[in-house]
Amino acid sequence: MRPNIIKRGVFNFLKAHNVEHILAEPVETKPKEGHEIHFPVHLETTIKLIRENLFPEGESKKSDNFQTLLDCTLGTAGHSKTFLQTFPNLYVLGIDLDKRMIDYVSQNAKETFKEEEIKRFAAQNHNFTHINKLSPFNAFPEEFHRREKFDCFLADLGYNSVQLEGDDWGLAYNSKQQLDMRYNKETMKISAADLLNTSPIYDLEEILSKFGEEPAANFIAKLIVKERKKKKIETAQELKDILFNNMNPRTDKYKVLMRVFQALRITINNELQNLESFMENSFDPLKENGIGMIITFHSLERQVVVQHLKELKKKQKIKILELNLPPSEQEITMNSKSKSAHLHCYKKIAPN
Ligand SMILES: C[S@@+](CC[C@H](N)C(=O)[O-])C[C@H]1O[C@@H](n2cnc3c(N)ncnc32)[C@H](O)[C@@H]1O
Repeated sequence: MRPNIIKRGVFNFLKAHNVEHILAEPVETKPKEGHEIHFPVHLETTIKLIRENLFPEGESKKSDNFQTLLDCTLGTAGHSKTFLQTFPNLYVLGIDLDKRMIDYVSQNAKETFKEEEIKRFAAQNHNFTHINKLSPFNAFPEEFHRREKFDCFLADLGYNSVQLEGDDWGLAYNSKQQLDMRYNKETMKISAADLLNTSPIYDLEEILSKFGEEPAANFIAKLIVKERKKKKIETAQELKDILFNNMNPRTDKYKVLMRVFQALRITINNELQNLESFMENSFDPLKENGIGMIITFHSLERQVVVQHLKELKKKQKIKILELNLPPSEQEITMNSKSKSAHLHCYKKIAPN
């Protein structure tokens, strides 16, 4: 088991970039023993974008320039926590589709946040597709009784390291738990195991090819159907063994596994449709001159986001501040999981 510690290199990197408070030891967000903490990606750039666009005159506590940020993918609140600590005049509403993440952050809030920061923070369980139903007023009725729109939002797509390593998510490659993968078991009826064991061969092939961009989709779909006739595929470990025992030894098995898992996760959670709706619905709840920041992790997400941003730009509704920004070499060295994280950011320039 990996020890529950923060890598020293990451600590030094963040310290050098003036964000050491999120990693001040002892560890502030406490994953379960043996689980790795989730490192927020593009932290430095997101802070810079917020500073330049929301607090151009500096983030002094004395001014009454109160701003609001909607963290559409709260996770373990790595981004939210740092933003609250960095900007004393920022209020943050964090939402997550996975209620377990909301509970996790709420249960650890007292240890994670300072008392004063808790007053500027709210966490709610929502799908980000409903972003247009949220407002600063709804989250902080006392402080923002007339504010309908946010000054900023962040959507950091994908899943959290804690979800990957948690026992009951079934997202980890070696998990011996039921292969589930649902962010929300109440709203999503089908688990990844159900999908694997019941889908017709042509659906499996399409899922693997479309959402995993897997070149061997046809071979793997046939393999799954053959194996499930012998025995139901129930855990991530069983799926991994089936793939590893049958793939050509010259193929990069871990890449195949990664693509198969990505395809299942995207399908089970409707991820691309959710992202489409989010891109449609997230323009209105943003104030004029507000900024939207989206972090994508694979080419399918990137295509959806970039296409939407280009359309909004064509209609002269936004100014693009960042498109497809990769992480710095330094960030990749410190956190290899950030490798495929691309940041996109726009400023709203039309009223609606
Ligand atoms: C990469 S993590 C966010 C990590 C977070 N920025 C941090 O620093 O801890 C992505 C989160 O988005 C959540 N999520 C996925 N789809 C969602 C959706 N449609 N609506 C809201 N949250 C979603 C996942 O449950 C997960 O917690």
